[in-house]
Amino acid sequence: MSKTRRSVVRRSREPDNYGKPLVTPLSPSVAYHYSDVDQLKAVYENQIDGFTYARYGNPNSAILADKISWMENAQGGVMTASGMSALSAVFMGILNAGDGIAAATQLYGQSLKMTSQVCPRLGFKTTFFDASDPDTFADAILPSTKIVLAEIVSNPMLRVTDFTALEKAARNVGALLVIDNTFTTPSGFNPLNHGAHIVIHSVTKMLSGHSDLNLGYIGTNDLKLLSKLDETVSTLGLNASPYNCWLAERGLHTFDLRLKQAQHNANKLSQLLCEHSKVSEVHYPGLSTHPDYALAKELLNGDSGTIVSFVLKGTHENLNSFLRAAENIPYGPTLGDVATMLIVPAVSSHRELDRSKRLELGIEDNLIRVSVGIESFDIIRDDFLDALDAA
Ligand SMILES: Cc1ncc(COP(=O)(O)O)c(C=O)c1O
Repeated sequence: MSKTRRSVVRRSREPDNYGKPLVTPLSPSVAYHYSDVDQLKAVYENQIDGFTYARYGNPNSAILADKISWMENAQGGVMTASGMSALSAVFMGILNAGDGIAAATQLYGQSLKMTSQVCPRLGFKTTFFDASDPDTFADAILPSTKIVLAEIVSNPMLRVTDFTALEKAARNVGALLVIDNTFTTPSGFNPLNHGAHIVIHSVTKMLSGHSDLNLGYIGTNDLKLLSKLDETVSTLGLNASPYNCWLAERGLHTFDLRLKQAQHNANKLSQLLCEHSKVSEVHYPGLSTHPDYALAKELLNGDSGTIVSFVLKGTHENLNSFLRAAENIPYGPTLGDVATMLIVPAVSSHRELDRSKRLELGIEDNLIRVSVGIESFDIIRDDFLDALDAA
């Protein structure tokens, strides 16, 4: 009888299996079904664990958030669709119209756009400070400031935030300190251990490491705040795709090894560039000539990062000749990939800034940012020497 009612349209029962999969299964399901109303009600009321609808969370995002929370020493975290949606959730979940945001001037370009253009339109007032110069904090971090936003190592100039002074300035006005830890990674610094309230990541970058997904993460030790942020993510639809979380978990397994090799290469590349006659400036916190070298040593747990920026001498033509000759190093707008990549911030991440503002930040027209990969250093060295020769 029941056989005649079977339909290929209907969902299948999972086969009985006493073995547990070694690899986290991918759970693309949008909905989770329950045997009766009471069971679903118990899940909604947090009496029993369970997923209901993927926008509110799914097994893959929960597993990945737990792993990153562990790396950041956060009590809990939530995955978002991208790094920018993590920042959106923080602003939209916490602020009311009229509240102030104090933001560092050296943020990722789109974070600067969000704070300087989008937030004021929504009624949030933004003031700016130079995170490596505590003298600028008092004018920007005000009694009306509810959120202070900074990165530890800035993009693309690799300046290091005076974290102790910044944490004190935020605490003095009772503001929440939010750190975008994408560049620094949890290996270099754990903001929550040092008094920050929220840590965010673009998991798209070094944490996932293969340039094949967009994801963000928000972590905190304040469980009330976490619940508010979690609710904001699902209400505004900023949630992460299970597939991307599944893929990012795979990438995360090799994070330590990738970081170690890329950092080794970045150190060597920064030295090579320093000695080259066609290079006028090299920015890397591991160099003793870097203005924040001592601060980086104190703050970054022995890390100096995987990003090196340098200024190529000459004109726009020299820049194009360099990029054309560096044909084996992709010129593309991201960082943290397994392979070395280049960008020119003036025409990519910071293209929307006025030239004068850009130059004020030190972002010259011929500044090249290198996201150093995990290739053998010999290959990177030969490619750079050939491209510099041609420039
Ligand atoms: C420091 C930093 N934060 C945030 C973002 C935004 O991340 P996503 O592209 O995942 O939205 C980026 C992207 O490059 C970044 O470099």
